[in-house]
Amino acid sequence: MSSWYDHAIIYQIYPKSFQDSNGDGIGDLNGIRQRIPYLKQLGINAIWLNPVFVSPQVDNGYDVANYYAIDDKIGTMAEMDDLIAELHAAGIHLILDFVINHTSDQHPWFKDAVANPHSIYRDYYIFAGHHNQRPNNWGSFFGGTVWEPDPAGTGQSYFHLFDKHMPDLNWKNPEVRLSMEDVAKYWLAKGIDGLRIDAFIHIAKANLAQNFPTNAGANEAVLAEPFYANLPNVQKWLRPFCQHIKADYPETFLLGEAASANVNLAVDYTSQHAQMMDSVITFRYFPLRQSANDVNKPALLQSEDMDWPEFKKNQTIWQQTLSGVSQPVLYWGNHDMARVMTRVAHNAISAKSLAMLMYLQRGIPVIYYGEELGMENLQFTSPDQFQDQTVAATVQHADMSETDALKVISTHHKMPARGPMLWNDEANHGFTTGQPWLSGQEAPVASAATQSTDEDSMLKFYQQLFALKKFPIFQSGDYCLLPTDDDTFVYTRSDAGQTAIVLVNLSSQTKRVAIPSGKYRELLSSGQHEVSAERVELGANGGLVLLGNHD
Ligand code: NOJ
Repeated sequence: MSSWYDHAIIYQIYPKSFQDSNGDGIGDLNGIRQRIPYLKQLGINAIWLNPVFVSPQVDNGYDVANYYAIDDKIGTMAEMDDLIAELHAAGIHLILDFVINHTSDQHPWFKDAVANPHSIYRDYYIFAGHHNQRPNNWGSFFGGTVWEPDPAGTGQSYFHLFDKHMPDLNWKNPEVRLSMEDVAKYWLAKGIDGLRIDAFIHIAKANLAQNFPTNAGANEAVLAEPFYANLPNVQKWLRPFCQHIKADYPETFLLGEAASANVNLAVDYTSQHAQMMDSVITFRYFPLRQSANDVNKPALLQSEDMDWPEFKKNQTIWQQTLSGVSQPVLYWGNHDMARVMTRVAHNAISAKSLAMLMYLQRGIPVIYYGEELGMENLQFTSPDQFQDQTVAATVQHADMSETDALKVISTHHKMPARGPMLWNDEANHGFTTGQPWLSGQEAPVASAATQSTDEDSMLKFYQQLFALKKFPIFQSGDYCLLPTDDDTFVYTRSDAGQTAIVLVNLSSQTKRVAIPSGKYRELLSSGQHEVSAERVELGANGGLVLLGNHD
């Protein structure tokens, strides 16, 4: 039986940066509501909002202090109800970001756990050790150790995989699991259509009494993924959670964020037999060329070239392995990585071709707001703007000027990818009448208003692409990679006697590609191309979609 999300085209909105409606410089729910006609015209049918719950904003909303209320800078519950109703009236589904691995240290559970050593909420979190000594050498994803001394001064420490203001929940505790299920059901009862389940692969931890084997010094904290990612208890604890949600709300889309999951884990998490997620987002899509690495440079200053042959291999493996299992998530960017135009595409022809390559594969497109305009990363001029403690240290030790180091980091980092949406040519591009919460130097990119009147614009291209994506052949047609050289990525989708060919030139040289003989018509293109009976010539970075009945 098919579900709405089998045909989803999802638009990811970073609420703080999309549209401000009250002049405080922070995007809000009413702003999103005003832009429903734009979303409709773009051709998407679902939106995913990054967290909108009450939060001190240490990690821009991923530090939740109250799951049952909207952050007052972003809106009110009444505005959320209106948004849900108006989205639904426009045929757009709503997916909320649901943070289950940790809360804010300002959440009442954590506050009580600290204020009262006998609180039932003490066991909602992971307290361990004594004499203020960290129980092990595990490192946090945000730098430093995962341990922070208990503010109550008990000599114990609490566990935080991300910022120290984001204590991890103790999923071993059945009360925690039930409490999170209550939260999910509260929102589903309100009518939302899906949950993007944040960092779910980290809810189980190995025995805390072990150090992670390392050559680093005894005092150094080291990333210890095998001790806190994808452990068997993740499935044991989440399966009932997902089953209960599906039992009460069968049409809920469960989209799990599984950053380090490989394709086999993706199968484990999404197969029907698993009864867990419908789809997962992996971070393993974009391998970098290792030979371009300079071992003497910190990661933030490395040049980051895509390893295209590996990328092609990866994509094909994900397509084939998940075939008959679940829908892969198709994306080029999100709030945790540099924008595709800055990171990979570098010019409009390439950005269009890469979009057709990615989104016409089998799976669910997830488009990061502004990608459809070709928006780029902002350029920051001060280390503070990155809200990342590792940036200042990197700049300080860089073998280049601070200005140059900040330029490089701005092209790699996630924060400059979260800039305000470029709506029009008014002040602050129509995003706010106030002072935008995040600003930096912007690349000259035409606004949505300008692009909507230009037939060759990126925006018009994305509209055409999404219209194509709705054809059955691009929804459920068979996928087959054609054997071409490393500079080209060519695949077919076949359905009901028809074949579509998607051809993309990954290089800046003109390329020729042999295609199965047949009669074709062109559906979409970017850049130069020439089609003859059994061959296509693609100009630099060009892309083409053909549809035909081949012999
Ligand atoms: C993954 C989110 O995408 C990221 O932005 C956040 O910092 C971490 N999870 C922690 O919630």
